[in-house]
Amino acid sequence: MFNSKLLYKLVVAAAIGAVLYAVIANYIYDPSATRFLSQKMDLKRALQPPIWLNVMYVHVAFACIALLAGAFNFSNAVLRKPKTFHRMSGYTYLIAILIVDITSGYMAPYSTGGKATSIPFNLLNIAWPIITIIAISKIRKKQLNSHRRWMVRSYVFCFTNAVTHLSLNMLQKGFDLSFTISYTVSVYISIIGLWIVAEVINRTVFKEPLRLA
Ligand code: HEM
Repeated sequence: MFNSKLLYKLVVAAAIGAVLYAVIANYIYDPSATRFLSQKMDLKRALQPPIWLNVMYVHVAFACIALLAGAFNFSNAVLRKPKTFHRMSGYTYLIAILIVDITSGYMAPYSTGGKATSIPFNLLNIAWPIITIIAISKIRKKQLNSHRRWMVRSYVFCFTNAVTHLSLNMLQKGFDLSFTISYTVSVYISIIGLWIVAEVINRTVFKEPLRLA
């Protein structure tokens, strides 16, 4: 049966996988992002690779922190411990996603695919902090289940890059599409797909109130 314990194991495995992928691909395999940057043709604004690269390194580092802190905080075992653990990890998550968001704001105008890609990225840049702040406001009002549901809506977007690249590879290999078209379509698949995943989780696995006993 697909219950919250199985879901949690899958989330932890996915988070570790996404972190390993991000670290290996961006700091070890192609630290200059040569492959990715070589696809950026016809940009309206001139991109400065050294600045873009440093922003991307910060973006990825805090994305990994958000992935791990978020996964940690969905654990019922952590919730049973003194509140300070969950709280500290929660604020670490908030700061991390704000930094991912700010760095994304710098990179979005140079997105591969132009406006078609920068618009969904910028919409997510606006929505993501709002969703996360709503989640925090819910727990301040002691609405535990609502807090969990809004945190699910926030946390899914930590997988934006992993899902984008999975879809990018499938579209390029399976349908022989160009990098730019595959990347653009993948950004939509990722953002809309993750949003749907959050709603499905909240309406199925997290439908019942949280019990910590
Ligand atoms: C939390 C997990 C995330 C990780 C690990 C991550 C990682 C990366 C990496 C490695 C890049 C370089 C380009 C590439 O390889 O695709 C990138 C680019 C970018 N990311 Fe993220 N990202 C994450 C989440 C997000 C989110 C939630 C947003 C939007 C709010 C975002 C917005 C962007 C933008 C706008 C770019 C530039 C894309 C381009 O130049 O075409 N990222 N990200």
